[in-house]
Amino acid sequence: MKIRLTTLSENTAGKPGFSAEWGLSILVEADDHTILFDTGAGDVALRNADRLGIRIPSGTPIVLSHAHADHTGGLVPVLKRIGNTRVMAHPAIWEKKYTRRPYEDQAADISMPYERPALEQLGADFHLSAEPVKIAENIWVSGEIPMVTDFEAIEPIFYIKENGAFRPDPILDDQALYIRSNKGLVIVLGCAHRGMVNTVLHARNITGEPRVHTIIGGTHLFPKTEDQKQNAIEALKELGVQKIGASHCTGFPAAMMLVQAFGDKFFSNNAGSITIIDDADTTDD
Ligand SMILES: [Fe+2]
Ligand SMILES: [Fe+2]
Repeated sequence: MKIRLTTLSENTAGKPGFSAEWGLSILVEADDHTILFDTGAGDVALRNADRLGIRIPSGTPIVLSHAHADHTGGLVPVLKRIGNTRVMAHPAIWEKKYTRRPYEDQAADISMPYERPALEQLGADFHLSAEPVKIAENIWVSGEIPMVTDFEAIEPIFYIKENGAFRPDPILDDQALYIRSNKGLVIVLGCAHRGMVNTVLHARNITGEPRVHTIIGGTHLFPKTEDQKQNAIEALKELGVQKIGASHCTGFPAAMMLVQAFGDKFFSNNAGSITIIDDADTTDD
């Protein structure tokens, strides 16, 4: 199986001429399947695709890792370009979502910035599922990720608003993409809000493949305590991860810890990065 992961939107421009934004979008090509995993916050994913000379095929299915606007804000520009397509996500993507840190005067709305009818008019055909969805012989959308480790938790800054009242957001909509390659699992993370290690353990259960080859995307390690970061890294080492491409919500301190733990198995996955997993793995970070 040949897999090509092209990062179209990320917080850092990885090469000259690329644009960056706080967001994430990764174009996944696995054999003859193409999937757009997240859309970034605006039109950066399309601008970077143009820069790379990539034409995202019409009707490419879209997987939304979760509702937050830095992953879904690019939906309108993407739909305008690729036309009618399937959009796979968790039903909780329609919740009104907020963040509020203790020092902030008011909550910030970080919901998906569009209403469903407007997206449907542009050709989005929503397939919503809380369960894992097998979208091809060796490709799954994770479904809801069970939180099983004792060191991963959702930060108490995320809220949903229901009937005018805020309550903590369990971010049930947080999902990942799982690819079973002949080298082991390739796991594409959005923000890993429900825990990077939980996401990997779920991948092994869903796919039946115990080997973890590559993890790429947002690890959400940046707000974690030193102990939580260390526990997550220890768990990844035990799982035998072969390549880890940290993006988006990883943060410099956690990235440094990952470099120390993984050496040249670590790479910085930024806007414009291309990772190829086949007989001879390459990444051009
Ligand atoms: Fe998020
Ligand atoms: Fe994010």
